[in-house]
Amino acid sequence: MAERILVVDDELSMRQFLRILFSREGYVVDVAESGERALSQARQDWPDLVLTDLNMPGMSGIELLRELKGLAARDRRDVEVVVVTAYGSTESAVEAMRVGAADYITKPFNNNELLLVVRRALERHRLEVQVERLRSEVRGQYHLGGLVGSSKPMQEVYDLVRRIKDTRINCLIEGESGSGKEMVARAIHFSGARRDEPFVAVNCGAIPEALVESELFGHVKGAFTGAVRDKAGLIKAAHGGTLFLDEVVSLPLSAQVVLLRAIQERRFTPVGAVREVEVDVRIVAACNVRLEDAVADGSFREDLYYRLNVVRIVLPPLRVRSDDIADLARHFLKRFGEEYGKELVGISPPALDALRAWHFPGNVRELQNVVERAVALSQGPLLGLEDLPEKLRGGVASTVPVAEEQGFPPEGLNLDALLASQERAWLLRAIEAADGNKTNAARLLQMSFRSFRYRLAKFGLDDGGTD
Ligand SMILES: Nc1ncnc2c1ncn2[C@@H]1O[C@H](COP(=O)(O)OP(=O)(O)OP(=O)(O)O)[C@@H](O)[C@H]1O
Ligand SMILES: [Mg+2]
Repeated sequence: MAERILVVDDELSMRQFLRILFSREGYVVDVAESGERALSQARQDWPDLVLTDLNMPGMSGIELLRELKGLAARDRRDVEVVVVTAYGSTESAVEAMRVGAADYITKPFNNNELLLVVRRALERHRLEVQVERLRSEVRGQYHLGGLVGSSKPMQEVYDLVRRIKDTRINCLIEGESGSGKEMVARAIHFSGARRDEPFVAVNCGAIPEALVESELFGHVKGAFTGAVRDKAGLIKAAHGGTLFLDEVVSLPLSAQVVLLRAIQERRFTPVGAVREVEVDVRIVAACNVRLEDAVADGSFREDLYYRLNVVRIVLPPLRVRSDDIADLARHFLKRFGEEYGKELVGISPPALDALRAWHFPGNVRELQNVVERAVALSQGPLLGLEDLPEKLRGGVASTVPVAEEQGFPPEGLNLDALLASQERAWLLRAIEAADGNKTNAARLLQMSFRSFRYRLAKFGLDDGGTD
């Protein structure tokens, strides 16, 4: 189908000239004499590209650009805007690019130059439409319980969730702080057969040790000082549904014994009671260290570990799935944009590169905080590099991924920046793979410790220690 171009100019001769020029090239051409007219026409027949003069009476080209980008974001559509600036007004061209213009052309222009700019912008438009289509397909396929991210490791997580959600199999979720353990636990419950039954979350680390047993399993009146009436425990509250035991590693040994029995025999005795209570719950436990290590040092019962670890879901830290960063960032942008009443169209490429280059020690929660702060600060329609915290801005200029099958990017690429970002990512991965031991990390990268240290320092990753 022919692409649709909307020409906006207050000068009749210009509109006539451009209509002829573009029609000859096979485009469908609409014209409008003002920004206001252009907007209402765009609502009727959405254009692929808008070519607008910047200086017009009434709505200016920049205002039109903002409005169009806002409309596009709201309706999940895409439009390229090319602005026409007067000779010598670079400032307004820069401003237009910042607001999201695809390109600009300076008057007076020659026809070939203009056609080239338009062709290039439409090329980009086609790519974006394609990417957006693919992205929403992937989203539909992998979105589970509101979880965002379609990287390989996350697909494996979704796969496991799908396989167990309708069963009552217990499961253990391990992952660093902020990596989404509770979200996955909720996804298991709320997408599964037990979704209409209760989901009860308990943070085992937050209950004083002496109270854990009575909180979890309940007590009868008079069982201990302060037990003035019978109290059903949280496990009973989760009957028929899911009990989410967060920070399960903090569970005292005495409570571990009772829990083990409750899992094995589906019954337990509340504190001070003589009669047993029956219970049917699925237990999802979470832990931000390896629970196996707690078994090894004797603070966690091995038999209970095996009962909980029927299926183990390991949530990878965000830095090893940087493919998810863009999707997550857009997701949070939308969410906080609505919350703060800001119309943000997207994230500028440099800001996105900086996000992708950051290693996110606080994982998804940190990314969420970064985006929330940026949305609060942003004056854009585009969230920019200047809205990100200082520490993220020091990063790399470009992290274009180059897959084998991908041709050369039409916009060219910054090879030095690309290699630097790869280098930085591999340094971090090596440290991770070596559990933080830098001597071993250097070995993994087949380089001397000195050279490794030098490279860390180059990226400001050196914490000054020797190991
Ligand atoms: N895949 C994801 N998609 C969307 N939001 C996510 C995702 N993972 C995490 N989040 C968000 O990040 C924040 C942290 O997630 P969550 O509380 O599940 O992490 P956690 O692993 O339980 O952290 P902690 O160990 O600190 O308890 C939450 O606000 C959650 O909504
Ligand atoms: Mg949590």
